[in-house]
Amino acid sequence: MKPSFHKYIPFKQINLPDRQWPDNTITKAPVWCSVDLRDGNQALVDPMNLEEKLEFFHVLCDMGFKEIEIGFPSASETEYEICRELIEKNHIPDDVTIQVLVQAREHLIRKTFEAVKGAKNVIIHFYNSTSTLQRKVVFKTDMDGVIKIAVDGAKLIKKLTDEYTGDTNFRFEYSPESFSGTEMDNAVEICDRVMETLGADKENPVILNLPNTVEMCTPNTFADQVEYFIRHLKNRESAIISVHTHNDRGCGVAAGELALLAGADRVEGTLFGNGERTGNMDIVTMGLNMYTQGVDPKLDFSNLPKLREVYERCTNMKIDPRQPYVGDLVFTAFSGSHQDAINKGFQYMKEHNSEMWEIPYLPIDPADVGREYEPIIRINSQSGKGGAAFVMSHNFGYDLPKRMHPEFSKLVQKKCEELERELIPKELFEVFEQNYLNHPMKYKLSSRKIYEESENGKDYVHFKGKLIIDDRDEVMLIGVGNGPIDAFFNALKKVGLDKYEFISYSQHAISQGSDSKAVSYIELKKPDGGNIFGIGIDSNVNVASVLGVLNAINRAEA
Ligand code: KIV
Ligand code: ZN
Repeated sequence: MKPSFHKYIPFKQINLPDRQWPDNTITKAPVWCSVDLRDGNQALVDPMNLEEKLEFFHVLCDMGFKEIEIGFPSASETEYEICRELIEKNHIPDDVTIQVLVQAREHLIRKTFEAVKGAKNVIIHFYNSTSTLQRKVVFKTDMDGVIKIAVDGAKLIKKLTDEYTGDTNFRFEYSPESFSGTEMDNAVEICDRVMETLGADKENPVILNLPNTVEMCTPNTFADQVEYFIRHLKNRESAIISVHTHNDRGCGVAAGELALLAGADRVEGTLFGNGERTGNMDIVTMGLNMYTQGVDPKLDFSNLPKLREVYERCTNMKIDPRQPYVGDLVFTAFSGSHQDAINKGFQYMKEHNSEMWEIPYLPIDPADVGREYEPIIRINSQSGKGGAAFVMSHNFGYDLPKRMHPEFSKLVQKKCEELERELIPKELFEVFEQNYLNHPMKYKLSSRKIYEESENGKDYVHFKGKLIIDDRDEVMLIGVGNGPIDAFFNALKKVGLDKYEFISYSQHAISQGSDSKAVSYIELKKPDGGNIFGIGIDSNVNVASVLGVLNAINRAEA
């Protein structure tokens, strides 16, 4: 067959002119059910072994999941054994319900009941496929045949539960598999019949799970289907409406979110979206989407790097660098204008003591998901001036004055061009160190004394010291002025260094190890006309300024 879009049948829209969901918002977390150990696991090249499943299970419990689909125990001996191990070795916390999947077929249902013997809380999740396409090409049966399979399964489940002698608390979930490819009235009818058979009531509601088994339509159409379904179900009060979206069109999360607007109570998905083909709905993304809207997702995402590590190790899958919230690059801004805006956002929050998160380009505080500010900004040759200054301030505590940003940024860009790549913060600091802190010194102070004197009601500052030139010659420096910088300048003039003009100065405290020091940024006009900055650091603020002046001169004469 030649590639052609003509061979595809467009998805049929739902007739729902008075749809309500577009006006709704998500205001609370749904009931979450992790299907990592079943749908996620079945889609792995190498499914998890017992140890890996157990480790993953505990991670899910620690995150706060109360419903976890642990597998398909009737499908294989391994799955059965894992289910038994979880139960017999008491891995399941009392407030966690395990869910087990089974096709609506007699021998499989019986085996599933055996597999969960002794568990405290169990959801028996049974399903059969109901879609128009599957009825036509797979089962070659009509809707009555499909309803019979579901109802027979429900009858057997009811009977086995009634006969059960242990003290397991059973609940039931039914999935009309490929719900979104099913005529909505048929989906409603089969679910009504299953609910009647199971004797669902308000006290014992049945979970009706609506799978978007293969995502074939835009998320708004899936939301229409969910709203239509809920509005036509006979006994909505006795059902918990669950959705289970897949990601074939890349909208698994969007479809799940719109389904919540349409009235769903519960969401099934996996961490980072693992699952058949393009994956299941990513619970991390949906949960953190809620979080960034001020809604408590009721799951703990505070250490995403740890979740990622366990996930990657147990599944052998890799997280994409741009995966929302967790990818390596999601807290990195390359563009200069983005960096500037982020920088300004941090400044704004600091100045306004803002308790709200108001940083452009960062929809979430990286610290809330266990990431650090450090990798937020990488510096490359395209970065704006603010980016480098931001890293200097944010990562290393140096608040370079605004007038100094262009000079420092040029040095950074030169380094990037030399290396033909971006710099990480550590390398950025090395540029700063080489150019300012460890710069070769033509002039060095071997001794210095700065003191104040009052004469006739006027205050003066005296500078006295020795200047070593080119590691050889030593000259005395003596000067008086109205401040330490002025006094030092006057002393320099006397030894011939009289062509520099003082332009600007700023200073702040910086902690180095356990002690706090002053850092001074001094801007001078060079004899040739251009301006240059120097930096001085000392525990004495006056000495820091004097060292800053000398540093600027040394840089100018290098
Ligand atoms: O995607 C799907 O339809 C499923 C069902 C078994 C719930 O995984
Ligand atoms: Zn699925």
